[in-house]
Parts: sequence; C-alpha cells; structure tokens
Amino acid sequence: MCGIVGYIGRRDVAPLLLEGLQRLEYRGYDSAGIVITGKPSGKTPAALKMVKAKGRVRDLEARVPKRFAGTTGIAHTRWATHGAPSDENAHPHMDPEGKLALVHNGIIDNADELRAKLVAEGVEFASETDTEVLTHLIARSEAETLEERVRQALHLIEGTYGIAVLHSDFADRIVVARNGSPVVLGIGEKEMFVASDVAALVTHTRQVVTLDDGEMATLKADDFRTYTTEGTRTTASPTTVEWEAESYDMGGHDTYMHKEISEQPDAVDRVLRGRIDDRFSTVRLGGLNLDAREARAVRRVKILGCGTSYHAGLIGAQMIEELARIPADAEPASEFRYRNPVVDPDTLYVAVSQSGETYDVLAAVQELKRKGARVLGVVNVVGSAIARETDGGVYVHAGPEVCVVSTKCFTNTVVAFGLLALHLGRIRDLSVSDGKRLIEGLRKLPEQIREILELEPEIKKLAEEYANAKSMMFIGRVRGYPVALEASLKLKEISYIHAEAYPASELKHGPLALIEPAMPTVAIVPNDDLLEKNRAAMEEIKARSGRILAVAHQEQEKADHTIVVPKNEVELDPILMGIPLQILAYHTALALGRDIDKPRNLAKSVTVE
Ligand code: M6R
Repeated sequence: MCGIVGYIGRRDVAPLLLEGLQRLEYRGYDSAGIVITGKPSGKTPAALKMVKAKGRVRDLEARVPKRFAGTTGIAHTRWATHGAPSDENAHPHMDPEGKLALVHNGIIDNADELRAKLVAEGVEFASETDTEVLTHLIARSEAETLEERVRQALHLIEGTYGIAVLHSDFADRIVVARNGSPVVLGIGEKEMFVASDVAALVTHTRQVVTLDDGEMATLKADDFRTYTTEGTRTTASPTTVEWEAESYDMGGHDTYMHKEISEQPDAVDRVLRGRIDDRFSTVRLGGLNLDAREARAVRRVKILGCGTSYHAGLIGAQMIEELARIPADAEPASEFRYRNPVVDPDTLYVAVSQSGETYDVLAAVQELKRKGARVLGVVNVVGSAIARETDGGVYVHAGPEVCVVSTKCFTNTVVAFGLLALHLGRIRDLSVSDGKRLIEGLRKLPEQIREILELEPEIKKLAEEYANAKSMMFIGRVRGYPVALEASLKLKEISYIHAEAYPASELKHGPLALIEPAMPTVAIVPNDDLLEKNRAAMEEIKARSGRILAVAHQEQEKADHTIVVPKNEVELDPILMGIPLQILAYHTALALGRDIDKPRNLAKSVTVE
C-alpha cells in the first residue's frame, strides 16, 4: 500500500519521479506528492521544493510547475490510513522549517501518544497523518548526521515503515529505512534509485538491493551503504531483477486486468516449465526444502493467505487432501494470526501470497516460525518478504501483476498447488497412473485456457445482460465452492455489485430466501460425481423464478445461459472454471464504466494490518 520512489543523480528528477509514481500507482492512488532539492547557491543550501495533490498522479503532474528543476528527490502515492485523502495528508511531510521531507509506507502504532507529547511541547501539525509525527521527531533530533537523526527517531516509534528522507542540509544523500514495508535500492551508473517496488525501477536499472527489516541505507549519486538501525554496517550485494521492464507495460490492452487475463496461457506454461518429471510421473519442485522423509511425516497441511490467495489456498487444500491424502485446510491468515492457534510440529504450514508482502500473511508466518513450525511459501514475487521468511516453497511465476485485482496470479497459484499436491501425492500413495493422468491434465491447461479466452465475445454479451443486477449469488459444491467465492470477490471488487458466494448445498439452509428474478445466480456445475446434486440446486432456484448463468462442461437445461468450458481432470477443473468468471467480472465492470485497474478503496498490496 502506498508507493515510494526516490532518485539521486544527474538527471532532471521530476519527470523520473512522476514516471515512477505512475508505475506505482496501483499500490495506492488517493493522493500523491513530490519533493526535490534545487541547486545550492554559494553557501546557501539547496531549498526543498514540494508539490502535493489529492487524487491521482495525473492530478499531481498537473500541479508541478514548468520550472521544477533538481537532481535529487523523493515522491509518494498514498492509500489513506490516518486522515482522509487530501492535499495536507498527502506525503511528503515537511518540518516547519522546510528543511526536511519524509515519505512513509506503513503505520506508526504509537503515533497518537507521540503526537500528544509533541503538541504539549508546542509542535504544530499540518496534517492528520501518523507520518508527520516521524517527520517532527527526525527534525527535532540534534544529532550531527542525518543518518543518526533518523536512527534516533526510529527508536522512538513502534510500527511498520518503509521511509525515504531528504534534508536540504544534507542534499548529497537520501536516507532510507525499512521495517515491515519494502524498500528496494536501484543501483545505476552514477545514479541511485529507491522504491517500494521494483516496478518503479526496472526501466532504469535491474540491479537491485532489497533491504531487510531493521536495515537502513544512505544513497549518494555514486555510492550506497547499508547498515542496521543500530548503526552496524551490513553487506548488500545487488541482484538482478528477473522480470523485464516490458512486463509492466499494458502491451496494447486497454487495462492491465485485460492484459493479465489474456496472459494466462503463457503464465501457466511458465509455472509448469522444467517441473514435470515424466519418468516418475511426478513433479520436481527445486525450492521446496522438504525431503521425502519429511514429506511423509507431514500429518496435516494448513494453508494461510488473504483474499484471492486464500481462495487459491482453499482449492489447494482440496487438491492436497485428494491427491496426497493428507488432511488439509485453508484459513484467512488475517484470522489465524489473532486466535492463538495450536501450532503443531507435524503440520506443514503454507503461506500464499501474490505480492509476498501482505502484512497479515507475513505476521502469521512470523508467529508460526517463532513457535517452531515449518512454513513453506507459495509466492509470486521472488525475494519478497514472505518468500524470504519461509523455509522453502514454490514460486508461482505469473510475472508482474499490476491490476489491483488478481487474475493470472490466482490461476498460477492454483496450478502451483496442483504441482505441490501431485508431488506430495507421489511421495505418499498416489499411483503412477494417477500421476500420469494429472500430468497430462496439467499439460493441457494452457491450450484449454486459450479456448476459454476465445469465449470473450459471448461472455461480454452476458455481462452486459447481467450488469443491471443489484446483487448476484454464486454457488458451487466442494471443488466448485472456492471457484464461486473467488468469482464473487472478483465481481464485487471491480463492478461494486453486491455478490454472495455459498456452497450449493447450503442454499436451502437460508440463502434461498434471497432468490428472486432480480438476483441472478452464477452456478459452477462441473461434470463430476456431484453433477446431479448441482442440477437439483438449479432446479430449486428456477422454482423460485431465479435467473441462472451456469459455468459447466455441457449446456445446462435448467440454466438461462451456460458458458461451456473445456473438461480437464476433475481435480484440475477448478483452475479452468474460474477464468470465464474473471472475464464476466471484467465486462460487467466495463459496462458499468468502472475504473477497472484501480477499484475504489483498494490497493494492490495490503502491507498494513
Ligand atoms: O498479495 P497477496 O496475494 O497476499 O494479496 C492478498 C489479497 O489482498 C488480494 O488477493 C486481494 O484480495 C486482491 N484484491 C484480489 O483481487
């Protein structure tokens, strides 16, 4: 949530930072700001120049004066936590003398208490943010160096932060620090970048250093050094970002969501690549760090994630239970971490996250590790906090996902779970023939996804027909239920139509009361052993004059419309059945004129509690 970008070098900084903000806007987009240092004149230090604006980066851009020259600066795009979106609450925050500017991602937990103390000492606040507290604390430090001032202030605060600080008396540097909110340094030729996300860096450099929690850095144009918040030097060797700069572009599509939906055949191909082992009808998962003896000793699997990743985990749990015959379940990480769960040494915990940054998932992982559990990650972003905290895992290889709502990453995560389930199954008691059957099914996925993408014109028409619904019901049974949950989340996130997801079996226990012509139902109806039961549920809806849109492997008589998807193996069918419903949500939102890539109130990575 929120995006930070900074630069120090010889180039004109404002256009660079504005471009970086555009690339980070998916992380928060309710206000934005930029501060730069101008040129020093004689002995007078360079003054800071700042512009802020409520709204999108384009609103900020419109306010930046023509003459806004400088070669060092920091900028921010915000997702409000403390104080409503406004010019005043937008970052950067400056000290009253206008010498120091700070941008911050995260939350300062003891901000109220510190603010009260500062107010009692006569400090006047210009915003309602927690960040401004830190600005004043740094500005009031009398330490000699900027690094020491920042360090002293950080010791007074509790909470999470990724920060970048600029000071006109120390205009040759940017000081940054990280605790729970990502900070990445981009290493260039006589220029340095900093950002909360490589998306803002890759067009300029692919050499990056990711700070650890408790680490700080000083960036100068031709040099950087890293150290802990205690002042001890750390060693940081740059690594190369594997994603190409073009993967962050829209590639001819009108929205990132459309681009990412259409990338799914290639993305699935990528998650499978090099992992299938035909000789033993299994898969090889290099980074798992779980040998066969350990895998056999696992008595239970617990999957933890949030939002769409949790839904992928629900499908993953079913796959693991079915193929590896290990009891498995998924739970929202955001709930798990607050209920003092029993942490069992024979349970394998799996943390799922696209960004690898979601705070609730990270906190659950940290709690589990503290209690001695083994935790694997199913993560998309290589080297992210969750990937680094876990003992091993499976990378999802979906490529960068920029649209706030997750599509290709959901699909790839479920495929990654399919691989994990197959691997665990073949170590335990899944037969060679079942192994082969599933491998064939996995190999068919990219082509079958292409077939589904060709249904777009038909799904678009359906979306336009259903877009006037005030509310929609999504139902599925067993393997179809998480598909229904995810499809309903997708619809509400981008179309703002209210949607409910229920197990089809639960309809008659209550939600049937909602069924009427104005509340259409989307039914997930695979050709499996539950087909007749699903047909019975549709019959009950029809009997109450409900409209039905079925996603099925063949035309459904009881439905008003059926989207027919290709059939795979029963265990893998959920992967395919979700895709037409991503397209349905997309075209519904489009028909309603929504801002698809940046839905209201949301942001891509939820790095706060
Ligand atoms: O990055 P993560 O997968 O950990 O994110 C988890 C959720 O915040 C995320 O899936 C959210 O639900 C998306 N908006 C889904 O479209």
